[in-house]
Amino acid sequence: MRLGFFASGNGSNMQAIIDACRNHTINAVPVLLISNKADSGALRKARAEKISAHYLSSYTHSNENELSDAMLKLLIEHDVDWIILAGYLKLLPKKVINYYKGMILNIHPALLPKYGGKGFYGKRVHQAVIDAGEKETGITIHIVDEEYDRGKIISQCVVPVMDGDDAESLSKRVLEHEHVFFVETLRKLCNGELVI
Ligand code: GRF
Repeated sequence: MRLGFFASGNGSNMQAIIDACRNHTINAVPVLLISNKADSGALRKARAEKISAHYLSSYTHSNENELSDAMLKLLIEHDVDWIILAGYLKLLPKKVINYYKGMILNIHPALLPKYGGKGFYGKRVHQAVIDAGEKETGITIHIVDEEYDRGKIISQCVVPVMDGDDAESLSKRVLEHEHVFFVETLRKLCNGELVI
C-alpha cells in the first residue's frame, strides 16, 4: 500500500505513521504529502523524511478545478493507494473524493458523531467536550465523504476526561492516544485484519 498524506498542521500523526512504516509495523510505504500551509510542521517533517512534499492551496491555485487537478496529478504520479488525512483542515475537492472513493481516511479527536462537523477542529473540539461535562471522549477514524466528519466510521477508541482537564491537557492526552491508535488501525487495514 502506498500512502499519500494531507496535513495542515504539525504533522505528528503523519510522523507516527511514517515511523511505523519504516519499522515495518505497518505494511505500507509513505510516498507523498500535500499541505495547504506553506510553513506547516507537516511539510518540514515530510521533507526531513525525504517524502515528496508539496504546498497546494487556494493561493497556489485559485481555481478549484485546477487545484483538484494538481492534487490528482500528484496522487496518480505517486501511485497513491490510500489517502490519509492527518489534521487536514480543508474539505478535499469533490473530484479527489470521487476518484479515491472509499480510500480516504480521516482521524478526528472525538467520538463522532458527537463533536464533529464544520467548526469542530483543534482545541474547539476539546473545549466543547469539557463544556458538556463529558467523562469520556476519544478518537474516530472514518472514511471521508463530501461532508466534514460524516463518512463511515471504521474504528473508535475511548479516552478519559479527567477532573480539572482543560482543552489543552485534554488535547495533549487525546493526541498521544491518536499516534498509537492511528498506527494500530492502519496496521490492521494494511494486513487485512480490518476490512472496510
Ligand atoms: C489531530 O488532533 C487530529 O485528530 C486532528 O488534527 C490534529 C492533527 O495533529 N484532525 P497533528 O498535525 O497530527 O499533530
